[in-house]
Amino acid sequence: DSSKPILAIESSCDETAAAVIAADRSVLSSVVSTQAALHERFGGVVPEIASRAHVERILPVLKEAMDEAGVTGADLSAIAVVTHPGLVGSLLVGVTAAKTLAAVWGLPLVAVDHLRAHLYACRLAFGEDIFPACGLVVSGGHTNWYDCPDPVRSKLIGSTIDDAAGEAFDKVARLLGLPYPGGPSVQQAAMKGDPEAVPLPRPMMNRPDLAVSFSGLKTAVRYAALGNPNSPEAPVPPLDEGRIADLAASFQAAAVDVIVGKCEVALKQTGRPTLLVGGGVAANRALREGLTELCNRRQVRLCIAPMEYCVDNAAMAGLAWEIVERGEFAPLDCDVTPGLVR
Ligand code: KG4
Ligand code: ZN
Repeated sequence: DSSKPILAIESSCDETAAAVIAADRSVLSSVVSTQAALHERFGGVVPEIASRAHVERILPVLKEAMDEAGVTGADLSAIAVVTHPGLVGSLLVGVTAAKTLAAVWGLPLVAVDHLRAHLYACRLAFGEDIFPACGLVVSGGHTNWYDCPDPVRSKLIGSTIDDAAGEAFDKVARLLGLPYPGGPSVQQAAMKGDPEAVPLPRPMMNRPDLAVSFSGLKTAVRYAALGNPNSPEAPVPPLDEGRIADLAASFQAAAVDVIVGKCEVALKQTGRPTLLVGGGVAANRALREGLTELCNRRQVRLCIAPMEYCVDNAAMAGLAWEIVERGEFAPLDCDVTPGLVR
């Protein structure tokens, strides 16, 4: 019954999230419970801690999302859940909750891809005519480019060969002594710094393909901040507030240059008239500015996910509506997949 909304669940990493989305794609509620405080002292997500926190939070988050939307099980048309990619133990909590609700309420189950959902966050803000498009998902776990003829069958056309962009922000923040999660704190420190103060590489940027690397850039920041073990005699400026700001600004500028440069390659390769951008790093202001400049220059329509739907959330799993409209429901014995589904 497509006059009734879908309840969507997302638990792939360290956010426990639920949302209720109507058939016209309006978001009736979107609740996100972040575990950042639990993982902060480890400087990254600890899978075992993440799964256990999901177990604690999943039902309160679901209840809050349903209360806020003013719906009960009888008012829903389907249960959607992110089944891939992500941490297996985390995914299993959301998937088990979704299967249970689908079985008990007699509703169909819909499996959603987390990365295509990140791109679908753009659809929630910009409307259905954003497809066909070229897509970039830039998050803590992924830096992927897609050719998207439609919302469901987006094809992966390139990705990082090592760290994801968000992971590089998180690692650079850690080595500069900035708080977790690193993206927002690097962005804040960078505001007081000079992006040209520290010369840093733009690895693989001038290659005509979509391969990209962030691990070498992160190492260059480490050497600039703490000294290079290969040339221990070279002087290193003290890591005071000004130097930290300059390193943050220079790293951010290099990362943005690389991402924007590869978006230009992806736009040329796909020939699509629109660029969709989603994922946590899409919240970065310097990246938004760089992408705006690129798309103005190439006369491409730029659709960046709204701020509240950049980091992980369940509203973006409203992608389930597209899958429902294709009649592609998931069986109650469906499994989770940790890796990319192409
Ligand atoms: O999409 P997301 O919530 O989780 C994954 O699917 O990975 O992305 C989280 C990532 C983290 O690495 C975080 O540091 C980064 O997004 N991030 C940012 C900003 N806000 C979040 N990176 C750069 N600038 C930001 N403002
Ligand atoms: Zn994500």
